[in-house]
Amino acid sequence: MDFRELARKRRSNDHFDPTRQISDHQLEELFEFVALSPSGYDLQPWEFVVVRDPANKARLRACAFNQPKVTDASAMVIVCGSKDPARHAERVFADSVAKGYYTPETGKKSVERVTKWRERSEEENRVWAVRSSALSAMSLLYAACDMGLASCPMEGFEADKVRKEFAIPEGFEVVMLVALGYEAKPNRERRMRRPYSEIVHHEKFRA
Ligand SMILES: Cc1cc2nc3c(=O)[nH]c(=O)nc-3n(C[C@H](O)[C@H](O)[C@H](O)COP(=O)(O)O)c2cc1C
Repeated sequence: MDFRELARKRRSNDHFDPTRQISDHQLEELFEFVALSPSGYDLQPWEFVVVRDPANKARLRACAFNQPKVTDASAMVIVCGSKDPARHAERVFADSVAKGYYTPETGKKSVERVTKWRERSEEENRVWAVRSSALSAMSLLYAACDMGLASCPMEGFEADKVRKEFAIPEGFEVVMLVALGYEAKPNRERRMRRPYSEIVHHEKFRA
């Protein structure tokens, strides 16, 4: 699908068909595209918990203000972001060296730089994790739409409860939930969108 069509077509679906399931193959295909998302230093902090078992979806719904789409959707994805920037640094920078993009010295320095980020405040590393992981969630939404699937990003959940119920380690931020499945009925039309003249500032922010 052409990007213009995709951007217009993607919606946060309100109603999911609880009788239709997505397959393992579809999931694998979706995440093939999600993995191509951009991230700071290419450090790919995202990890995803896919919840398809009805009992587990019910547990997740209880952590998400009882939103019906949590159990109606075929799969719920818990988008997590590592707050440790250096978690994959060795591998990522070794690959840059192997491909000849970095010298061994630059590779080593890069690992050292992001390892030092471990000393930053919890808040800084939390924001760092959320930036890239949220972009991966956007990729998931677009990939789903391109594959004819319905989706919905969700912030209506209690992170502490989700962490506890789904064994998400403390070093990861619970960034977002994404519902995936099939549309039960079409959404209402989109709400208004704020215009270019209001959302785009040129050269500096003008209040
Ligand atoms: C970060 C974020 C959190 C959201 N949380 C919820 C949610 O908890 N439940 C829900 O039904 N929709 C949720 N939405 C969907 C928005 O309501 C939806 O994106 C918005 O109304 C625009 O509609 P559209 O995506 O169809 O263009 C969320 C969207 C975003 C980006």
